[in-house]
Amino acid sequence: MKKGFGQTDRTDPWWKGPTAMGAYLGIMLIYATWRGFMEADFWIFSEFGYSADIGHGAGTMAIENTGSHVLSPLYSPLIIPGGDSIGSMVPLALAWMSPAMFILVFPAGFRGTCYYYRKAYYRAFFQQPTGCAVSKPWNEYSGETGLLVVQNLHRYFMYAAVIYLPILAWDFWLSINFHDPVTHAHSFGVSIGSLLLFANVMMLSGYTFGCHAFRHVVGGGSNDWTSSSAARFKHRLWKWSTKLNEHHKDWALYSLFVVMFADFYIWMCTDPMFGISDIVLIGGF
Ligand code: FES
Repeated sequence: MKKGFGQTDRTDPWWKGPTAMGAYLGIMLIYATWRGFMEADFWIFSEFGYSADIGHGAGTMAIENTGSHVLSPLYSPLIIPGGDSIGSMVPLALAWMSPAMFILVFPAGFRGTCYYYRKAYYRAFFQQPTGCAVSKPWNEYSGETGLLVVQNLHRYFMYAAVIYLPILAWDFWLSINFHDPVTHAHSFGVSIGSLLLFANVMMLSGYTFGCHAFRHVVGGGSNDWTSSSAARFKHRLWKWSTKLNEHHKDWALYSLFVVMFADFYIWMCTDPMFGISDIVLIGGF
């Protein structure tokens, strides 16, 4: 084999995949970090177009109590120290933290330790390896030892990711419940924002239930698929997870895009800089 970084006997454009992946993951990472720190413009209320900057959003917070909003998945579940529900358990001393910082550790940990993403970013960012049968800048290979043993936490991040799904589904439900901020009248409606939240739950479900660790949890230790209805049910679950798993890469990449795009849309609708508001397609006020 040829020696030296990037040298190879391969004749195909092997570098295209890792390069595209590096650009895609890099953009997503920068965007999510930027938005997580921004701490503003992450939800749309029933009188669409309101900005919800926490610092100035007292009026809009009152509307939040009526349960009508389109909340960015990057900020869900919404934890505001000293606020309602979960927020009341968080000390006010942490109020300097963006609500996104409390929750992103789980989805980020889930994706960061995902078997597919590991393949992608080991190549794209760390040249470990550079590609199959392509020479890399160094010779050592120590596997996932040292700091990288943390990758073994993937299964636990998967448990957390499963818990997020009903929370995100609940966000979708809230987004189709419109409340008039003045009269408090209620009506159902569907906006582009709510459709994006729906797409987000579906894509994340496809990604999470096709996870290798999930597939192992439902069927990994089984050598009996038929003797009881519970065993048959397990088999069906495992087959379903296997179907999703076969396209795990696609679920991983597209679901990431949908999360970010849903957030971007909500940002556009709440920041006057963009000059647009959420489009209600059906019902609403
Ligand atoms: S292997 Fe990709 S999410 Fe578990």
